[in-house]
Amino acid sequence: MNFQLSEDHLAIQQAAREFAEQEIAPSAVERDKTGDFPEEIIQKLGELGFLGMMTPPEWGGAGLDCVSYVLAMEEIAKVDASVAVVMSVNNSLVCWVIETYGTDEQKERFLRPLATGQKIGAYCLSEPGVGSDATQQATTGTLQPDGSYLINGAKNWITNGTRSFHYIVFAQTDPSKGHKGITCFILDQDMPGFEVGHKEDKLGIRSSDTCALGFTDVRVTPDRIIGAPGQGFKIAMETLNGGRIGIASQALGIASGAFEKAVKYTFERRAFGKPINQLQAIQFKLADMQLKIETARMLCLRAARVKDSGQNYIKEAAMAKLYASTIAMEVASQAIQVHGGYGYVREYLVERALRDAKITEIYEGTSEIQHIVIARQLLKEYAVG
Ligand code: CAA
Repeated sequence: MNFQLSEDHLAIQQAAREFAEQEIAPSAVERDKTGDFPEEIIQKLGELGFLGMMTPPEWGGAGLDCVSYVLAMEEIAKVDASVAVVMSVNNSLVCWVIETYGTDEQKERFLRPLATGQKIGAYCLSEPGVGSDATQQATTGTLQPDGSYLINGAKNWITNGTRSFHYIVFAQTDPSKGHKGITCFILDQDMPGFEVGHKEDKLGIRSSDTCALGFTDVRVTPDRIIGAPGQGFKIAMETLNGGRIGIASQALGIASGAFEKAVKYTFERRAFGKPINQLQAIQFKLADMQLKIETARMLCLRAARVKDSGQNYIKEAAMAKLYASTIAMEVASQAIQVHGGYGYVREYLVERALRDAKITEIYEGTSEIQHIVIARQLLKEYAVG
């Protein structure tokens, strides 16, 4: 596989890096403390085209490929993983669904404001009692004589939950058909019966917005069904395949940000009469960290290239997410170790990387689920091969 980046890719990477350093970095530490949502930053990201990166220009997006998305996600997450997840969810889990399954009318009405960043969106699959076992949707959509549906139930851990206007919501509309009776709807926050919970107080990605949602007889007209009734679970899974490339890139960015800080510190800190990067114990750590980051980067870019080529990328996306999230935890922990006691306090920033990294092993499919996805795909390949 060719990992050569084009001039355009390098330009996007550079633009994302400059934006992250100039616009995001100055407030990242404070927002981690307060949990304040990066409102203005998200608005600017939208103006620059980072919220609808892969959406065609026809619908207000930047029309870029998935490789560009990986490169931008890494740069943003390197500086602030909270901003990165807002970007990832809007791009992969919201714009992509509408672009892929929506009608032209739905694209005009919902996708355009989301891709241009005028509005942001959320993806609502998890529930208070439904996480990894996602086929068991307890939220219901009950068909009414006039063709509309009444949505009842609750969703949990919804990224962009209090800040979104449009919500991709999965609900069981025909329980007799199990997961083939799940339907994908698009709801708006101002609909009667739509209730937004309080923002969660989290370990990491503290300035991103996560909350629970409640639906009581929310009436949804059929023009808000994405795809066909009963197609929702397939849509949910296919959307998460792409989402996993975004979260893998977020994890990669967290790792590379922590690594860069650790390397820099080894030049400043002296022990046993020399900079600590002259000590073999530290050199081994740096070598291991770099190896893991480069491997994760290759897996992310490979998954993106396979997606861009139009081939099945389920396994590649799961492998990238599983590996990048695992090494993000390891690299962040080692970055703290390199800093010693200074790594354990907020001033030196690497402890935030460890707190931010943890969620990448959980959301958009836990590491355990990624193992299942990879194993099922590889067994399918061997069975036909
Ligand atoms: N891509 C495409 N289709 C898939 C798929 C995938 N990755 N995984 C499963 N499917 C399809 C299967 O092919 C099957 O289709 P058919 O019925 O047509 O044959 C159907 O989905 C059901 O799949 P299984 O029979 O394999 O069902 P299962 O219950 O054994 O396993 C699962 C399903 C893979 C465990 C799935 O429930 C899953 O991925 N769970 C994790 C859910 C998850 O990632 N949640 C994240 C929440 S969103 C979030 O975190 C967003 C955020 O805010 C940041």
